[in-house]
Amino acid sequence: MEISKKLFGTMPGGEKVFCWTLINEKGLAAKILDYGATVQSIIVPDKDGKPVDVVLGYDTLEEYIAGDCYIGATVGRFANRIKEGKFELNGEKYELCINNGQNHLHGGKTGFDRCLWSAEQIDEKVVFSRTSPDGEEGYPGNLEVKVTFSWEGDSLKIEYEAETDRDTILNLTNHSYFNLNGAGNGKVDEHLLKIEAERYTACDENCTPTGELAPVEGTAMDFRNPKTIGKDAYNDEPCVKPFGGYDANFVISGHPFAVATGDKTGITLTADTDQPGVQLYTANALTEQKGKDGKDYGFRSAFCLETQHFPDCINHPEWPSPILRKGEKFESVTTYTFM
Ligand code: BGC
Repeated sequence: MEISKKLFGTMPGGEKVFCWTLINEKGLAAKILDYGATVQSIIVPDKDGKPVDVVLGYDTLEEYIAGDCYIGATVGRFANRIKEGKFELNGEKYELCINNGQNHLHGGKTGFDRCLWSAEQIDEKVVFSRTSPDGEEGYPGNLEVKVTFSWEGDSLKIEYEAETDRDTILNLTNHSYFNLNGAGNGKVDEHLLKIEAERYTACDENCTPTGELAPVEGTAMDFRNPKTIGKDAYNDEPCVKPFGGYDANFVISGHPFAVATGDKTGITLTADTDQPGVQLYTANALTEQKGKDGKDYGFRSAFCLETQHFPDCINHPEWPSPILRKGEKFESVTTYTFM
């Protein structure tokens, strides 16, 4: 294992932003930025041993600051949507910033993805931490949050930890956009994907859950047997059509919960988590733009597997709870393994 850091850019306020490189024994390399605790690149060998960068990203800090697609970022305090930004906790009503139609999305206007984190190397890991102050984007409690990146064999391991001084809600994820054929090398329609899920959280046209845990059987959402991402992404069904493809939370029912393979490179990603859900997002709204090395990114040029609590779960008490109580410690692990 080799860990190093290099200056990546300077924030408008003058703070320095570093890029941390973690290289494992086989040469798999992940680059993570202090800004947004963002995965900037993951380089893995293809079937012929040629290095391929399998995540979208930018070469400069300015592009990250200008971007609005959460590319590679750590998302919080609450990833995904909260209906109308409203919830109740301990009898108190909270209203969060509305930044996605009528809903709150990905922590608000200045979510964790837009913050500069403190970073330090501890043994063979890099730990990113920040304090999200009481009231930030409307959330209660001072939250101490840590996201730790390391290689465990060929698995990029992401460990989340958090503690609060007042009861709050929490849903942390990583928003990496994967293209296993290489970032900027076309659409992911021909990637094979398998997801261990019998059900998904059905949504209204605003992408907020109706409350139904709908069976995947007989729908575009059925990935229990591997199929290409493009096979049903263009169907007329209400689970894909209004969103221009997949933008849905699956109820994880087996582990590892997903396996994806790039058709051109043969690179396989196996994903696992202890979280109850995963949002499959197929870059339906990714604006046409240039990324690293001037490559073209846009519609369907990547897919995300955002491990998480179910969207809007704070308003669905029958689902696993996103409440973090004072005195408790939140701990969670997600791994992305490359072969
Ligand atoms: C959401 C999408 C959104 C995307 C980028 C995903 O997690 O579910 O609706 O467009 O993030 O912002």
